[in-house]
Amino acid sequence: MEFYKVKEVEPEEVDSLVNLCVPPKNRNFPSIVEGIRAKQNWARKSIELFGGVAKIAYLNGSPAGLIQYQPKLEEKVLEITCILVPERRNQRRGLGKALLNALIKDASEPKPYFDEAPPKALVTWAFNVPGYFPQKHLLLENGLQTSLRKQPFPPILSAQRGVCL
Ligand SMILES: CC(C)(COP(=O)(O)OP(=O)(O)OC[C@H]1O[C@@H](n2cnc3c(N)ncnc32)[C@H](O)[C@@H]1OP(=O)(O)O)[C@@H](O)C(=O)NCCC(=O)NCCS
Repeated sequence: MEFYKVKEVEPEEVDSLVNLCVPPKNRNFPSIVEGIRAKQNWARKSIELFGGVAKIAYLNGSPAGLIQYQPKLEEKVLEITCILVPERRNQRRGLGKALLNALIKDASEPKPYFDEAPPKALVTWAFNVPGYFPQKHLLLENGLQTSLRKQPFPPILSAQRGVCL
């Protein structure tokens, strides 16, 4: 039976987080090996500093999707830096929606690094990756809205808090 769970990434799951973003055939290229190491260090440091960096969706026990985030301390917003379900066979099974909803729920809680308040908004740049279903549709269908601010990519904000950056 198919079973999935969404869970906050612990330090020992950082390798799974990084691997979700790197196709296996690319993992031995020297520049990618360097990038993997840098991301592993950054992710571990972020967990130490902020208590979290990403959530992983596990499907039948295997990592199948991720939503990654980081606080923007000055603006007091939480930025979604990646939402991805890389393998086609795992898409359209509800993982993307479950990951986003888990982060939206989490973002309603007070955070020590935002002076014990919740973030003012969730923000992201909803760029397209060729060959993938555009993330902006998932975001807009789940309560986020487009901001009016002009940027290189169409920014998407949380509708609930009504903050426009
Ligand atoms: C957007 C994305 C995360 C969605 O993940 P997912 O697990 O397939 O999404 P869900 O199964 O939760 O789908 C939620 C809804 O999104 C819509 N949707 C998702 N994929 C779709 C597709 N291929 N075609 C049409 N609608 C789609 C549907 O409305 C779907 O609801 P439904 O299945 O009940 O109709 C995934 O397609 C993806 O990784 N796309 C690339 C995102 C990207 O570019 N990230 C940046 C990388 S750095």
